[in-house]
Amino acid sequence: MATPDLFAQPEAPGNDKAVKRVAALHKQLHEHAHRYYVLDEPSIPDAEYDKLFRELQALEAAHPELLTPDSPTQRVGGKPLDQFASVRHKVPMLSIRTETDTEPTGAQNFDTRVRKELGLKEGDPPVEYVAELKFDGLAMNLRYENGVLVQAATRGDGEVGEDVTQNMRTVNQIPLKLPADAPQVIEVRGEVYMRRADFEALNERQREKIAKGAKGEKTFVNPRNAAAGGVRQLDPAIAADRKLSFFAYGLGEITPPEQGGPVFETHLQVLLTLKSWGFPVAVQTTTALGAEELVAFHKNIGQQRDALPYDIDGVVYKVNSLALQRQLGFVTREPRWAVAHKYPAQEQLTTVLAIDVQVGRTGKLTPVAKLAPVFVGGVTVTNATLHNEDEARRKDVRVGDTVIVRRAGDVIPEVVSVLVEKRAKDAPQFTMPRKCPVCGSEAVREEGEADYRCTGGLFCGAQRKEAILHYAHRRAVEIEGLGDKLVEQLVDANVIRTLPDLYKLGLTSLASLDRMAEKSAQNLLDALEKSKQTTLPRFIFGLGIRHVGEATAKALAKHFGKLDGIMGVTAEDAPSTERLAEVDDVGPIVAESIHTFFQQPHNREVVEQLRACGVTWEEGEPAERAPQPFTGKTFVITGTLPTLSRDEAKDMVEAAGGKVAGSVSKKTDYVVAGAEAGSKLTKAQELGITVIDEAALLALLAAA
Ligand code: IVH
Repeated sequence: MATPDLFAQPEAPGNDKAVKRVAALHKQLHEHAHRYYVLDEPSIPDAEYDKLFRELQALEAAHPELLTPDSPTQRVGGKPLDQFASVRHKVPMLSIRTETDTEPTGAQNFDTRVRKELGLKEGDPPVEYVAELKFDGLAMNLRYENGVLVQAATRGDGEVGEDVTQNMRTVNQIPLKLPADAPQVIEVRGEVYMRRADFEALNERQREKIAKGAKGEKTFVNPRNAAAGGVRQLDPAIAADRKLSFFAYGLGEITPPEQGGPVFETHLQVLLTLKSWGFPVAVQTTTALGAEELVAFHKNIGQQRDALPYDIDGVVYKVNSLALQRQLGFVTREPRWAVAHKYPAQEQLTTVLAIDVQVGRTGKLTPVAKLAPVFVGGVTVTNATLHNEDEARRKDVRVGDTVIVRRAGDVIPEVVSVLVEKRAKDAPQFTMPRKCPVCGSEAVREEGEADYRCTGGLFCGAQRKEAILHYAHRRAVEIEGLGDKLVEQLVDANVIRTLPDLYKLGLTSLASLDRMAEKSAQNLLDALEKSKQTTLPRFIFGLGIRHVGEATAKALAKHFGKLDGIMGVTAEDAPSTERLAEVDDVGPIVAESIHTFFQQPHNREVVEQLRACGVTWEEGEPAERAPQPFTGKTFVITGTLPTLSRDEAKDMVEAAGGKVAGSVSKKTDYVVAGAEAGSKLTKAQELGITVIDEAALLALLAAA
């Protein structure tokens, strides 16, 4: 039995809980800071990190005894990587207080605090600020001695950073040499970042490398991530390849005036001087008088945010007068004279409740992640498209996953990435259904296409309106007066479910529709009656088979003469894809599409019913099959041909009616031999079979 601890102090109510929570937050924040700052692989969005950070700050404020020097709130960042030399900053690189209230009150709160600290009364004049953009990159200290860039260092933990001089020399926007009027020693601070266009181009190059099978390559989650990775490359050539950019926003160490250094009175003077020395300073930078002008700046930049060529996550306000800045001073490594005022995060964490598959008007199947509602980019998001099977696989989104969703501007929300470490062990991978979720017809993905499509065509509810409009089109079966609006009404009122229902319409069912006078109802019935007498090409075109346009429909009708020739009396005796591909104008993809269409029982049924409703056309005789030049000839292809692959050569021979065999025998007519042809060539020579090369094969085909 445990002895009770007689010296235990009575604890404040709830303290036990707070102790545990603080410990948990320390662990999480340390881990995330390490991933973010050291590994450049954040696993949660910044907004989520900020939330945890603020929770810890609040707990420490409520329980000061729990605030320890090793708390993540007492540090600016993570430890430097081992590989780079360490740089101790002459002037610490401070953090900046973040105003998370994204509403205008965020700016007002800051102004109120500043005025209070400065002892200003209500009637006193407004404080002058400089308003800047808050660039979403990483902080950099550039040290110049005698006008020459001698060192570039990351912020690291604010005291000690990493020496990344080689890499920063590759950034075109960073001057290597300053004009003669620059002081003997000056450290320029600013943000290294990546423009969105450069980021997209980088990811495009990465995707190409991955597609070519390059090992260890990956695409980047966002420009900040890619920029941070670039800064920390040991090989400056790779850093140069990232095409990093830079904006200056402040100073570190500088030669003091008594040693001949410049005298600055305002922050704006500092920025303008930096600009005159060749540093990029954002054009939006401006002065603002009092809270009102800060609010206006926040609003104005917010409207431009998505049009900027780079990411910002907020704006920064700084007291303009350097004397007032000195007077205001610092609280735990954050200046009282500056604040970052955020915008609503464009990325948030949420969970995937389900993955639905939606069917579009053209039969396209789109996987859509159904999300636990989350406020991101200023709206509540519950859906994010996964585009298609390849995208869904690439991102490997699964039901139950914790994901980062992004919504920037008016762009449709998307899943940026999955937090794989949070996934349940047994979460199954998403697979595209092989059946249409609306009508149950087979869903197929054609070669070279990204999308699955429902083959239900005429039968599929999702495609019904489109299918009916297509059938009624002037160049198809032509039903005069059956337009957009009417089809919409008929389908929505469930009067028409499939094409044959058109011919079952009566005066009463039509007249019951909104805005349908008896006269127009009768006109439509007349038009329907008239449409029953059609032609085979119009009817085939009207079926809306994918890839079958008017010209193909005509070619099919001419080639087969009868509809049964095209679709077979039963699905089993329908012509094969190869047979269909013999038709002028019909390639393998079109042939496949026609074949699949008529293999669907629903589609055959619709055709039968249309016929039963009295839709007719004149049938003809099938066209003579053109004599095939290689009919009855057997080929063997061996060795490496100079320009064709063996498969290509095989296709060409078969298209000309020939057969391609795998081994040489007395029945072989030709052996097509390329480089390094082995035993097959020897055998052909033994048997005295004609051996030809690729050029001779092409000549035979051309002559045929
Ligand atoms: S001033 C003492 N100005 O935001 C103030 N920082 O914690 C020092 N940042 O990672 C920072 N844009 O790199 C300042 N216009 C701007 C900024 C800016 C982005 C970054 C900075 C740091 C963080 C502040």
